[in-house]
Amino acid sequence: MGFPKGFLWGGATAANQLEGGWQEGGKGLTTDDVVTNGTHTSPRLITFTLPDGTKKAEQMFGLGEVPEGAKFECHEGYLYPNHDGIDFYHHYKEDIALFAEMGFKCYRMSIAWARIFPNGDDAVPNEEGLKFYDDVFDECLKYGIEPVVTISHYETPLALSNKWNAWADRRTVACFERYCETIFNRYKNKVKYWMTFNEINCLGFGGWMAAGVASNDPQVIAQAAHHQLVASAKAVIMGHDINPDFMIGCMLGYGPTYPYTCNPDDVLETWKKFNGVYFYGDVQCRGYYPSYKLKEYERLGVQLKTEAEDEEVLRKGTVDYIAFSYYMSSVASADPKMKEEAEGNMITGIKNPYLQASDWGWQIDPVGLRLALDYLYDRYQLPLMIVENGLGAHDQKEEDGSINDDYRIQYLADHIAEMKKAIDEDGVDLIGYTPWGCIDLVSASTGEMAKRYGFIYVNKFDDGSGDYSREKKKSFDWYKKVIATNGEDLSND
Ligand code: BG6
Repeated sequence: MGFPKGFLWGGATAANQLEGGWQEGGKGLTTDDVVTNGTHTSPRLITFTLPDGTKKAEQMFGLGEVPEGAKFECHEGYLYPNHDGIDFYHHYKEDIALFAEMGFKCYRMSIAWARIFPNGDDAVPNEEGLKFYDDVFDECLKYGIEPVVTISHYETPLALSNKWNAWADRRTVACFERYCETIFNRYKNKVKYWMTFNEINCLGFGGWMAAGVASNDPQVIAQAAHHQLVASAKAVIMGHDINPDFMIGCMLGYGPTYPYTCNPDDVLETWKKFNGVYFYGDVQCRGYYPSYKLKEYERLGVQLKTEAEDEEVLRKGTVDYIAFSYYMSSVASADPKMKEEAEGNMITGIKNPYLQASDWGWQIDPVGLRLALDYLYDRYQLPLMIVENGLGAHDQKEEDGSINDDYRIQYLADHIAEMKKAIDEDGVDLIGYTPWGCIDLVSASTGEMAKRYGFIYVNKFDDGSGDYSREKKKSFDWYKKVIATNGEDLSND
């Protein structure tokens, strides 16, 4: 019993948060290249210029519509941490060698769409970009590490946002299809596991991040979501044509929501919160819009523009597996006086008095991971892969240079123990686990380097200083042992 043979142990990253090289190798700008740094308390900003030349910067989360003709671009005087990331672009050989030393069986990473199609709608792909990922995949395969690839992780070619508000416009679907066709054909003998959109449900509260959309109007967001869902289904259909062995998944940002009390109104509120995520899972796994969403759109006056083919595309393009991120659970109440003070992975909720929180206020709940596995498996009966989980923390170097991240070891050990129970006691089909930020990288929500997740420390700091050298943390050897024992030995000695 325990973790199955061939279980995919690994780690996860995303191009925009680690690659750097933002203007190298023919890469175009992405939506993430115009996002500034931030902190736990001051938000990341997006910079743009109005047609009259006025320079503006607005909060990334909740970005509303911008005046017509506004151009998203970088401005002098701001720090854009993703421009350099952790310079994986030049360090990938060293980094993959370290992953191999830990015994990784797989490595989840993303392709930067704008490295392949710098403007998103170019007629021909950029060979230098394609070659870069060939090199990265070859390096992985050299060590027997299976690449697990996110096709779109929080970055859209910026030109598409400037031209037509990116995913709000149907034309982006065709651009994405061309991108998928190109990478599926190019890497069909190197990559088997794909996932279409990272945390697609983030669209509901982070239109810029998830879809390069400057708007929080429900009509625009619903339309962008429809376009991504159709694009995802088309990718699944096309991918299977190109290589029937491909495993193509969706990717949800997921965590259970608990009712604050057993008051039926709280339970109903909880169900509604769940549906915010399930909507995306339901369409991608079942192939059609769920009734609760259609009714919600009716109430909001949202009218989706669809094309004749959409129904069939959604029905045929259902996914092979479900990838999801899990960091914490949340709590819901129907009482408007209850304050949503708990922070989290782009969601907020009520503080759970039974749980401790991370330095960034994310509530730590290993049992919630078992519930997440149980709920998802029960609902969809598809293989599951946990493609993000981990503890963002302030790491300190001791005088001797060591980094003793026992808190991270504890967090991961507790979560892995619950995964094991979900397999052994509940029969969940779990195929892999890739903790987030296996090497320190730029935080998506705050843009900080100080929020570190890695087994590998990177000497880069929030003011932009640092020599980018890598160091092993205590968790490095611990995770190596976990992998070597296929999850049997979780002890920290
Ligand atoms: C997920 C994203 O939301 O959480 C990652 O897929 C992100 O891109 C991760 O980095 C952790 O969030 P943060 O804000 O701590 O970086």
